[in-house]
Amino acid sequence: MKNQVALILDFGGQYKELIARKVRECNVLSIIKPYDITIDEIREIDPICLIFTGGPNSVYLDNSPKCDERVFSLGIPVLGICYGAQLIAHMLGGKVEKCQTSEYGDTRCFVENGNVLFGGLEKEQQVLMSHTDRITAVPEGFSVLAETADCPIAAYGNEEKKVFGVQFHPEVENSLKGKEVIHNFLYSVCRAKGDYSMDDYIKNQIESIRKTVGNKRVLLGLSGGVDSSVCAALLAEAIPDQLVCIYIDHGFMRKNETAHLKTVFEKRKLNFIQVDASDRFISKLAGVEDPETKRKIIGAEFAKVFEDEASKLGHVEFLAQGTIYPDIVESGKNKSAVIKSHHNVGGLPSELGFEGVVEPLSGLFKDEVRRVGQLLGLPDEMVNRQPFPGPGLAIRIIGEITREKIDILQRADVIVREEIEKSGEKADQFFAVLTSSRSVGVVGDFRTYGYVLAIRAVVTNDFMTCEYAKLSYDLLSRISQRITNEVKEVGRVVYDITSKPPATIEWE
Ligand code: XMP
Repeated sequence: MKNQVALILDFGGQYKELIARKVRECNVLSIIKPYDITIDEIREIDPICLIFTGGPNSVYLDNSPKCDERVFSLGIPVLGICYGAQLIAHMLGGKVEKCQTSEYGDTRCFVENGNVLFGGLEKEQQVLMSHTDRITAVPEGFSVLAETADCPIAAYGNEEKKVFGVQFHPEVENSLKGKEVIHNFLYSVCRAKGDYSMDDYIKNQIESIRKTVGNKRVLLGLSGGVDSSVCAALLAEAIPDQLVCIYIDHGFMRKNETAHLKTVFEKRKLNFIQVDASDRFISKLAGVEDPETKRKIIGAEFAKVFEDEASKLGHVEFLAQGTIYPDIVESGKNKSAVIKSHHNVGGLPSELGFEGVVEPLSGLFKDEVRRVGQLLGLPDEMVNRQPFPGPGLAIRIIGEITREKIDILQRADVIVREEIEKSGEKADQFFAVLTSSRSVGVVGDFRTYGYVLAIRAVVTNDFMTCEYAKLSYDLLSRISQRITNEVKEVGRVVYDITSKPPATIEWE
């Protein structure tokens, strides 16, 4: 049975995927299409509603993006957001002008709650506003449904025509009841049935992967991180016999990680190639101390190993990548100063001459990817893994890397992770760092000169900023005792109490 579809028309707004996600959270399938989609295409999709996104333009300019005006005579409910709301007003005979005072940020908004859009909501709401144009007259037959101090028409609509516009952004978290507004629109205006779930997402993706690749072969670089693992599991459902996964062990993985990954994926029906390239990486890094140089060498070597392995397979037509939506946003915006060159398995060489790229998770956010992984039966510790940097432990060993140091760090790191996990204390990412400094100690009657090991544990929502975790002294003492007892090469344990900024989460 076909799912009902909410069709989102993209006018260039930065939050379109958030709208799509909020609609999915309301159990309705959402599809994003460019604003100039044809009427015939819309008819073919047969959506239960159209949602116009925001966008950076001004509707009153000649070359600003506009949809076909016949969309309003299709009898399909329409919700316009920000630019979308202004566009509807403009196209249906209302008026849009430049604001005297632009509105940015969290704003108090007063809504008329006796209508379908705001039914069940308090009169006073917090919403996110971000606009320099505003609607100054609604089209004939429409009523004003909300206002803010600087924006007398913050929402408007016509229940009979089922057309509504909101100047604020209901799709973002700062609009505290924004999801309810979208829910009201979908269920009270569009009579949604709520027939969509993550299971459907998986089914749809499987169908679409099969359609895209036909009987051709697909290569995936599997890093063992959440995204590439879920991508592998999904592709293995869709095209088991055509999928080849290459897992490159650069030698900087955590203790037992490679073995665990192998067990999980060898059970699945896919061609899993594990490459032990640790010698190549470690010899390339001999004598290298500078963090950026280390990262660059690892990134470049990774691409070379991948290329070498791929060329052994003969011709493979498609490259699969576990790209998720925030990756796309970040890379698009990435014009800021380079703090660290991030390395992911995603950035693979284009010279391999693939016919196409398959990215089945590219519209999803991290928590949705985890949900897909769970539904596909991946183990919890894999789908709920903390972020782990592409260069792995190589950037958690300060300065030069040796096999001995990797071994010491692996043994200490597993203790840090075990104890923090067991304690249930709050930390979103935690690990050990081998500082490569040494300090004097005493054990029995003997002088020791062991490594200084740092514990890093942070609390964060987005990993862009963080605070150090306020772990209890009991827990820190337990970790310190276990490490100095069980990892003889470590003579001193310290706790990193720096937030980001000014520090970063990783030490290199
Ligand atoms: P920083 O150290 O920049 O880290 O505060 C922020 C988050 O990103 C992770 N990280 C990486 N992830 N490739 C990745 O995929 C990398 O090269 C990389 N470097 C850092 C880090 O673990 C933290 O979660």
